[in-house]
Amino acid sequence: MTDLLRPRAMGVDVARLEGWAKVTGTAPYAYEHPVENPAHAHALQASIARGRITGIDTAAARELPGVLAVLTHDNAPALASTEDGELAILQSGEVHYRGQLIGAVIAENPEIARHAAALVRVDYEQADHDAEFSAERDDLYTPEQVNPAFATDTSQGDLETAFESAPVRVDETYTTPMEHNNPMEPHTTVAVRADGGLTLYDSTQGAHTVRQVMAKLFGLDRERVRVVSTHVGGGFGSKGLPHSHVVLAAMAAGLVEGRPVKLALTRRQMFSLTGHRTPTVQRLRLGADRDGRLTAIAHDVIEQSSKVKIFAEQSAEPSRHMYAAGNRRTTHRLALLDVPVPSWMRAPGECPGMFAGEVAMDELAVACGLDPIELRLRNEPETDPESGKPYSSRNLVACLREGARRFGWQDRDPAPGVRREDGWLVGTGVASSVYPANVFPGSAAAIRRTADGYQVSIGAADIGTGTWTALSQIAADALGVGLEEIDLRMGDTDLPHATVAGGSSGLSSWGSAVVDAAAVFREKFGTDPSEGDESEGTVPDNPDRERYEMKAFGAQFAEVRVREDTGEIRVPRMLGVFAAGRIVNPRTARSQFIGGMTMGISMALHERSVMDPRFGHVVNHDLAEYHVATNADVHRIDVHWLDEHDPHVNPVGTKGIGEIGIVGAAAAVANAAYHATGVRVRELPITPEKFL
Ligand code: MOS
Repeated sequence: MTDLLRPRAMGVDVARLEGWAKVTGTAPYAYEHPVENPAHAHALQASIARGRITGIDTAAARELPGVLAVLTHDNAPALASTEDGELAILQSGEVHYRGQLIGAVIAENPEIARHAAALVRVDYEQADHDAEFSAERDDLYTPEQVNPAFATDTSQGDLETAFESAPVRVDETYTTPMEHNNPMEPHTTVAVRADGGLTLYDSTQGAHTVRQVMAKLFGLDRERVRVVSTHVGGGFGSKGLPHSHVVLAAMAAGLVEGRPVKLALTRRQMFSLTGHRTPTVQRLRLGADRDGRLTAIAHDVIEQSSKVKIFAEQSAEPSRHMYAAGNRRTTHRLALLDVPVPSWMRAPGECPGMFAGEVAMDELAVACGLDPIELRLRNEPETDPESGKPYSSRNLVACLREGARRFGWQDRDPAPGVRREDGWLVGTGVASSVYPANVFPGSAAAIRRTADGYQVSIGAADIGTGTWTALSQIAADALGVGLEEIDLRMGDTDLPHATVAGGSSGLSSWGSAVVDAAAVFREKFGTDPSEGDESEGTVPDNPDRERYEMKAFGAQFAEVRVREDTGEIRVPRMLGVFAAGRIVNPRTARSQFIGGMTMGISMALHERSVMDPRFGHVVNHDLAEYHVATNADVHRIDVHWLDEHDPHVNPVGTKGIGEIGIVGAAAAVANAAYHATGVRVRELPITPEKFL
């Protein structure tokens, strides 16, 4: 086995191994998997926010030529498990949110199915509903924990006294809107029922997760369920867990004996069925001495969740770790509403939480008359403020300094609203970034010597990030062979168990299993193995996880221009500097960071799902009205990373890069907009009228 400290394949700018197949249209995405004689389903959705179906008239739909069957709660199979309120669909006529799945039309082609779906008449008994998010409620709910298993509240020292007696104080409330993931590939599933088993070609971030969940729901042995997710066109968290359309597809396939069923959600359907980022109202209290040294940090968050299934986003979590202060408090409370179920969206928790926290830090810098970078340097903790543990590596300060140098921060005039160029007000801003260096236990990898190299197998999903390539690079170095000798198999539950492509944990977790399998292989068979020699490996226990805090850090810089007469906002320049452990593939990593920062611009300036509480309905439920950043919104984004070696995080030394790129990006834009205009925007998105 070679020394991973002297890699040959890792660190090289390898182009995506599956790139050719993707651009020539030969890489199958879920919906495109060829199956014999498929039928096509179109989902039926509830048009009330709460109540009960009293009747469904499917006659007109069934009479349409080409319609094979209509699935409703009247003919749906009973599920073996109904404890998941999101997934237990069609078990009764109850409606818990507008857009909930209430059935499907199955037809010879998607057009007939969609037409027929419009002919189904549904009668309801409507009940009062509550779909209006507000922090001013007396029935806020305290969740048992926040995503995925963090404490709901934390408290250290005497926050109130420390805050009240602090000579410099910031006490402001920040809001972030409801947002929706819009991966390029919509959520699709092809369900095949045969011989009492179930095969799904699913657009998912975790094939094994889908198998586990579906086996339980349908009362099947896990071995009877196979899930294939060869290529995935993005997910950003929305495909991290199976949603109810996967259940619908499997039910539909049971209704048309012997025929596979293909189901693709429309973009509009995704807005109620595949999760959303909760809106947040976040109160930040920062107390500091006159030199800007924090004595008190309080972060109190109110979010929305659904009554039918509770998901609590960990928005205050990053405030537990970012800066030193002896007195601290974080809380999370939920407004439980008759709305669709919220879920993961890129960097859940860190992303909205660091918007509030990092704008508050900018406000504190202004209040103290300090440069915002200097303020952060003065509050850098020696050990983790919450746990007291040392960091395995913590290079926030280095990121801020390197970013300042590259961005040209040293010449910055701190005065807001004074730089004018051709009718534009110009400013710059900075924010910190953070994301946990997650490694999830439970993945396994297999290695097999073949005639011309090594077959490496792991049932993980490449969601479009370049994992296929980077994991092959890890395998090559772990075995001490050339990249061309590695034949990586992924995206199938017939391959060894893999955890979800979520929490930026993929490469760290699966890479650990591959490195372990390679070590076992070399130990057993040496460097001259025979064809057919095989080994397996898992993610080893890592006692350092108990000893250290492990996080990636970054610094985000933005230049913003705001048109004096119209309030139009432009972001001509962004720079992100990250310390995220080993970078396995610089080319795909750069794309990940740029993608995250682009989504950050999108969050800062555009994204907002508008809920009409009268109907429990997101009115801008398509890409014509739900704005995301396009090429015209993105100008220059520079990315740089520090050469960080962390021997503690995992055998590969990676910290995960999928999510940190978005964290802090919107705060940097908001802080730059303040510097440009003197107007402090505490509510996302930052739209022109806020400056007029
Ligand atoms: Mo990421 S939101 O954990 O897929």
